[in-house]
Amino acid sequence: MASVFIVNLIFNILVSVSVISSALTCSDKIFSPDRLFSSCTDLPYLEAHLHWNYIPSLRKVSIAYRATQIPEGWIAWGINPTGIGMVGSQALVAFRNANGTMTAYPTSITSYNPAMLPALLSFQVSNISAEYNNNEMIIYAIVGPLENGTIVNHTWQSGSSVSSNIPQIHSTSSPHLQSMGKIDFQSA
Ligand SMILES: *[C@@H]1O[C@H](CO)[C@@H](O)[C@H](O)[C@H]1NC(C)=O
Ligand SMILES: *[C@@H]1O[C@H](CO)[C@@H](O)[C@H](O)[C@H]1NC(C)=O
Ligand SMILES: *[C@@H]1O[C@H](CO)[C@@H](O)[C@H](O)[C@H]1NC(C)=O
Ligand SMILES: *[C@@H]1O[C@H](CO)[C@@H](O)[C@H](O)[C@H]1NC(C)=O
Repeated sequence: MASVFIVNLIFNILVSVSVISSALTCSDKIFSPDRLFSSCTDLPYLEAHLHWNYIPSLRKVSIAYRATQIPEGWIAWGINPTGIGMVGSQALVAFRNANGTMTAYPTSITSYNPAMLPALLSFQVSNISAEYNNNEMIIYAIVGPLENGTIVNHTWQSGSSVSSNIPQIHSTSSPHLQSMGKIDFQSA
């Protein structure tokens, strides 16, 4: 009896460990000490996580958007200040250049077939950078002032290919069409 119990116990532990290791969460990411993020949410689609730190005195939010991705792919995160979903989003995109370095820049999603080229956004964004580590791409940026308040509609996306340094169209499978939501940067 006891040995059956122990075998079961070990099996259960192995199952939980494999579940934990296959689904990354907010707490799995340890940032370097100069990156301070007091809040985080595990986003419900595309293996993505949004870390942030809201700075009330500046009404700016420092963000780190991270998502599981292959080296050839791209990730994007944005705020849609005028509606909901993809079109109208003021986004940040990141991917690996042909030369192997990560690049990240702001881009405005003006249609369902956007150029995905660098563009000015309808709000300020600064200190944009990107990393690729442990099968995850990360975009860092400082967004704001958030002149319309701390509650925003946001959207996130990923695609599996980049051609001539232009992110290519993403899949239209369900998670890629549902990856949007509302967030309050002032919440804990
Ligand atoms: C944000 O999305 C909600 C639906 O979740 C919508 O009612 C609201 O109008 C959107 N906000 C803006 C600024 O369009
Ligand atoms: C890599 O390519 C990007 C985009 O063309 C360029 O901005 C960057 O300077 C290049 N980096 C190196 C190390 O060549
Ligand atoms: C943003 O970048 C500027 C210029 O490089 C730098 O002085 C500032 O410390 C950065 N801000 C943060 C919060 O990292
Ligand atoms: C605030 O609203 C204006 C007008 O809709 C929009 O252009 C701007 O991008 C919004 N700013 C933010 C930070 O959402």
